[in-house]
Amino acid sequence: MENKNDSSIETNAYKKLNFFLKQIRTKTDFVPETAIVLGSGLGNFSNKIKQECTISYADIDGFPVSTNKMHAGRFIFGYIENKPIVLMDGRIHYYEGYTMEQVVTPIRIMKMLGAKNLILTNAAGGIDNGFKPGDLMIITDHITSFIPSPLIGPNIEELGVRFPDMTHVYNPELIDKLKSIGRDKQIDLKEGVYLQTTGPNYETPAEIRAYKALGANAVGMSTACEAMIATHCGMKICGLSCITNMAAGITGEPLDDSEVVEVASTVADKLETILYNLVKNL
Ligand code: HPA
Repeated sequence: MENKNDSSIETNAYKKLNFFLKQIRTKTDFVPETAIVLGSGLGNFSNKIKQECTISYADIDGFPVSTNKMHAGRFIFGYIENKPIVLMDGRIHYYEGYTMEQVVTPIRIMKMLGAKNLILTNAAGGIDNGFKPGDLMIITDHITSFIPSPLIGPNIEELGVRFPDMTHVYNPELIDKLKSIGRDKQIDLKEGVYLQTTGPNYETPAEIRAYKALGANAVGMSTACEAMIATHCGMKICGLSCITNMAAGITGEPLDDSEVVEVASTVADKLETILYNLVKNL
């Protein structure tokens, strides 16, 4: 039998990340402090940034590219006020057929580029009866029990521990900052637990009833795996869900992705105000 001990495999996974990092470093020496992931229909935020450099995922040899037409697939480096940031304009989803390791690669890369904070945004279905389409929800915790952990496989010791604690994935200080920005700007912010499914299908009404019983307030196909990997490598995280529709069975209406994009674009202004002010205050 081949003698492959953990550390040799581990070195390979880390080597791959360093291979990507090296390619990015041939294009820019920009060091971001904060990383932001833009969800479906929220890509316009890039216009709010004093852009320094853009790198398409497709220009990084071996890097996963987003196949979803609503996701551009590039890193944007630049400034909000004087704060250096990297924007992930287009994320990678598990439902596209990538492995979980590939899905979370851009998050790890942004950390390796220097980002200490991570702001996650997404489009999500509302499960909580107190929500309506167009609401914004601060993610206070998540449920990942229905997706494979992105940490399965040899641990990358250089990035984090084998058994990372998940008690405070979403940073309480950042949550407080979000709430205070909401109050100042008179933007109503809900709070709740985000549950991630694999997608790409939307859920059945029975699944939504089950997720509700488990404590979920919103459901989506991204984000929680990214928050998990970022917790592993020690980033300070917060997340905002744009409730684009009520989840299956709640109103009885069938779900449609054009509704998701349409509603996300109507809330984009509110979300951009929150993001801008949060980065400014970090
Ligand atoms: N379910 C899963 N993902 C989603 C939904 C939903 O209802 N809306 C937007 N993303």
